[in-house]
Amino acid sequence: MTLMKERKADHIEICANEKVTQDHCYWDDIRLIHEALPDVNSDDIDLGATVLGKRLRFPFIVTAITGGFPGAKKINANIAEACADLGAGMGVGSQRAAVENVDKESYAVIKDFDVPLIIGNMGAPQLVPQKRKKAFTDDDIGGAMDLISADVMAIHLNFLQEVAQPEGDTNSYGCFDAIRSIARKYPIIVKETGAGISPKTAKRLSGIGVKGIDIAGMGGTSFSMVEMHRAIAKKDHIRGSIGRTFSDWGIPSPVSLMSVSKDIPVIASGGIMNGLHAASSIALGACCAGAANLILKDAMVSADAVKKRLTMIREEMKATMLLTGSADIRGLASAKYVVLGRTKEWMDQI
Ligand SMILES: Cc1cc2nc3c(=O)[nH]c(=O)nc-3n(C[C@H](O)[C@H](O)[C@H](O)COP(=O)(O)O)c2cc1C
Repeated sequence: MTLMKERKADHIEICANEKVTQDHCYWDDIRLIHEALPDVNSDDIDLGATVLGKRLRFPFIVTAITGGFPGAKKINANIAEACADLGAGMGVGSQRAAVENVDKESYAVIKDFDVPLIIGNMGAPQLVPQKRKKAFTDDDIGGAMDLISADVMAIHLNFLQEVAQPEGDTNSYGCFDAIRSIARKYPIIVKETGAGISPKTAKRLSGIGVKGIDIAGMGGTSFSMVEMHRAIAKKDHIRGSIGRTFSDWGIPSPVSLMSVSKDIPVIASGGIMNGLHAASSIALGACCAGAANLILKDAMVSADAVKKRLTMIREEMKATMLLTGSADIRGLASAKYVVLGRTKEWMDQI
């Protein structure tokens, strides 16, 4: 296996089987206010929402997980079938392997399904020169979008992962300019990968035509912990130590969301574990919620397992909407809430 295929397989294996999240759940610090007399018929609750210009029946995105190695095709097909069935959005994992002609099929398979919002994926580190590696061009981005008929391309920011990765690409100089150039040609969003997006970075991105951001905040999958497991297995003790030390680095997801949602449309992800968390994120200002690791194990099994998981999330969202007196997503967006504990401490100081 090439190093890239091996890394992707490692990520799936580690995320499915090892502890890769911190213990504190920041979403549980958000408490929506119960309405004892909600005036809503549960059967009439409408979860429909327009997200990045596309109509979703269920405002949820299975965010970038994989592509580019043999096991990825089935995972992406299972996710795509379920998202098409429920009317949710989907992102593929980094398309670097497609641009480098390592594998295209594991991404292109999602075109067999009628997914209402398809999001491509490319790493910001690939947009600038790295040690012995040339930068991808704007045309590479266009080709990657065509491969999956993407509605929008996500440029991912993952420098926490890169610093902890034995073979990491740690030059970030020039990424902002490269993102600006791509945003002039293609519809793009920018996503983090588990460390959140600050108000300063969100404002910079909203000023250059980026359509939205996926905050992917701290509290869910920690790629620092993921890379720690890989580094230890490779006996790279320095990277292993960096991975451990930075295992809770980042801005907690609800904090990132609340502090940027006035500036730009936000997909809320990072540690979303159920429909109550997803509903809370919309009350806090997100246009929709998303998750990766929560879906991964089901996606390794079957499309039906993913459908079951997404249906659970959707029904919990509906229950939350009934209990907050929200007949639709607009109503949920104005539901009242309180912020407790560590999340409140963050909000008081950020
Ligand atoms: C196995 C795995 C692989 C991932 N690969 C990518 C990727 O290629 N590109 C990307 O932007 N994010 C990637 N992510 C990050 C997720 O899209 C998401 O931002 C992050 O895991 C936080 O969400 P979660 O807490 O719901 O897992 C990956 C996540 C997992 C679990």
